[in-house]
Amino acid sequence: MINDIIEISKQAGLVIREGFGKTLQIDYKTNESNLVTQIDKASEKLITEFITKKYPGHSILAEEGGGTKRDSEYLWVVDPLDGTTNFAHGLPIFSVSIGVQKNDTTIAGVVYDVMRNIVYSAEKGSGAFSGSQKLNVTDRTKLEHSLLVTGFPYNVAENPENAFERFEQLTKKARGIRRLGSAAIDFCYVAAGVFDGFWEVHLHPWDLCAGKLIVEEAGGLVTDFEGNQMDIYSKKILATNGKIHDQILNVFEQSK
Ligand code: IPD
Ligand code: CA
Ligand code: CA
Repeated sequence: MINDIIEISKQAGLVIREGFGKTLQIDYKTNESNLVTQIDKASEKLITEFITKKYPGHSILAEEGGGTKRDSEYLWVVDPLDGTTNFAHGLPIFSVSIGVQKNDTTIAGVVYDVMRNIVYSAEKGSGAFSGSQKLNVTDRTKLEHSLLVTGFPYNVAENPENAFERFEQLTKKARGIRRLGSAAIDFCYVAAGVFDGFWEVHLHPWDLCAGKLIVEEAGGLVTDFEGNQMDIYSKKILATNGKIHDQILNVFEQSK
């Protein structure tokens, strides 16, 4: 199955790469920051048609609504283009993210970094990889030596979950904070030991399903903001190397 997920992610990536820099039909979703283009839709169509053909009994949850719920223990969770704002503005940081769950446990995940042509993948219990290279989180133990990444939801103006206070506090305490604009890539950079941690206040299942498994299989820890285990529907996520996790949770405690 993992090879199928990698293959379809790359095919979708090809569609996205061909659309990059071309004229886009942009529609707004919840507000004028929340975009969808014809390329998001084309990528999703390709992926969902592939799944329906090869795994006809499986359920699909896909961001742009092309999914189907079936009576199945398998669920494919699909973000056909993670980082649409970057894509639409010509910033080459975006990905395809596909996770597969069996009985509510994520068993496989793939994030394809489209413009760098890098596949990040994991199967439960078998480690995380970038191509054939095994991924490991960092072993940094101090927040003040850590480089973190975050993202903001489309309703950021409402300051959900004190997003600005958390950002301010961590900016003061960490070595640096970045905001890349593709949550799926943020997870993979934690898994690859680029970032020591990633947090975001309002993610969706398709943003996090694959990335969460990739971080865990690289030796990292993913919880909610209270340090509890979380499923793909719990929106608040903190993904770290495990060693700085409690220090960030303490900062969150003070940012309430
Ligand atoms: C978004 C990106 C972004 C994150 C947003 C997501 P989309 O996904 O992952 O980094 O900050 O919360 O919604 O809309 O580009 O698929
Ligand atoms: Ca997304
Ligand atoms: Ca998307």
